[in-house]
Amino acid sequence: MTQYIGILTAGGDSPGLNAAIRGVGKAGLNAYGMQIIGFRDGFRGLMENRTVTLNSAALSGILTIGGTILGTSRDKPQKMPIGSKMMDMTDVMVETYHNHHLDALVCLGGGGTAKNAYHLMKQGLNIITLPKTIDNDVAMTDITFGYDTALTIATEAIDRLHSTAHSHHRIIVVEVMGHNAGWLALGAGIAGGADVILIPEIPYSAEQVATSIRQRVRDGKGFSIVAVSEGAVPQELHERIVAASKNGKGKEVKAELEALEAERLNSTQKLTQQLEGLTGLESRVTILGHVQRGGIPSPADRLLATRLGAACARYINEGIFGVMVAARGDSTEPVPLEEVVGKRKTVPLDHPWIETARNLGINLGD
Ligand code: F6P
Repeated sequence: MTQYIGILTAGGDSPGLNAAIRGVGKAGLNAYGMQIIGFRDGFRGLMENRTVTLNSAALSGILTIGGTILGTSRDKPQKMPIGSKMMDMTDVMVETYHNHHLDALVCLGGGGTAKNAYHLMKQGLNIITLPKTIDNDVAMTDITFGYDTALTIATEAIDRLHSTAHSHHRIIVVEVMGHNAGWLALGAGIAGGADVILIPEIPYSAEQVATSIRQRVRDGKGFSIVAVSEGAVPQELHERIVAASKNGKGKEVKAELEALEAERLNSTQKLTQQLEGLTGLESRVTILGHVQRGGIPSPADRLLATRLGAACARYINEGIFGVMVAARGDSTEPVPLEEVVGKRKTVPLDHPWIETARNLGINLGD
C-alpha cells in the first residue's frame, strides 16, 4: 500500500534543510514508493492546509540551495497568533493530517520543533523529527545539520578580522550566534585562532580577559580577537540571574529576569567598551548575526542532512515513529522523542575542545 508522508520545516532556517527534504523525499519515492507533500511555513502551514506536492521534479535542484523551499516559522500548535489572540490550534492540525490520510509527519527543526512535534505525537499522530540547527544544541544526537556551514562562515569571518585587527593594533570582539550553547563560538574560535573565547557555559570576567590581552601586548602581540557567543554572560550578571531565579515564579521575578536578560543581550557592546578602557587598546565589535545561517550548505551538512533524511524514510517504512533520527558516527539511530524534548545540549565543562583551548593558551574568560 502506498504510504502518504507530510514534511514541514519549523524554527529558524538552517543550511541543509533542503538537502534533508530531498533526502526524505527521494528515498521515499525511489526506495519505498511513498507519496510526499510539504506544508508551508512550519506548523502554520499545517494549520492552514497550505501544501506543495514534493514529487521528483519538485525535489530536483534543491540540494545546494540555502534556507528552506517550504518556508518556516516559529509558530507553535498550542500558541498560534490568530489575529490579536493566541490560540491552541492543535485540533485543526490533527484534522489536516487525517484529511490528507497521512501515515507520518516529518518535522525538521531544533529543540523547540521537537517539543511541538512531541505534542502532536501525543494527539496520536505518527511523528518523526530530524535535528537541524546552526546552534548544535539538540540533545541525543552527535551533531545537527546547519552547524558545519555556520562554523565555516564564522571561522572565515574570524580569519578576515585578523588582518584588520593586526593592521590597526586593535581588539576586535566578534559575536557569534548559538543561542545558549557555546558550540559555534568555541568551534569557530579554535578553528579561527581567536585569542579569547567566551561561551555561555563559562561566565566571564572582563578583567580576566583584559589581563590576558595585556599579556599578549607584553609578548609583542598588539592585537587580539575575542570570539564571544551571543549567550555569553558576565560573571556578576550571572550571579544576579542565579539569585533572581531562586525567588520563585511570580510576576515580579519574571519582570526582573526579563530585565536581566535585556542586560545580557547588550553585554557584547559593553564588553568591547570595557576592554578598551581596561587595556587602552582601540576596540571594535562585529556582530555576525544571520549571515551565519545564510547561503549554500557545506558538503558535510549536505551529506549529514541527506543521510538523516534517507534514514528517516527507512524508519517510516519500518513503522518506527515518535522518534528523532539522531546522527551516531557514520550511522543513525531512532531516539524516542521523550528523551529529546526539554533538554539542551550545551558544551560540557570537561569537553575536549575546552581542554584544547586552554592548552593553547586561549583565554576563556574565567
Ligand atoms: O537557533 C538558531 C538561531 O540562529 C540562534 O543562534 C539565534 O539565537 C536565533 O536563531 C535567532 O533567531 P531569529 O532568527 O528568530 O532572530
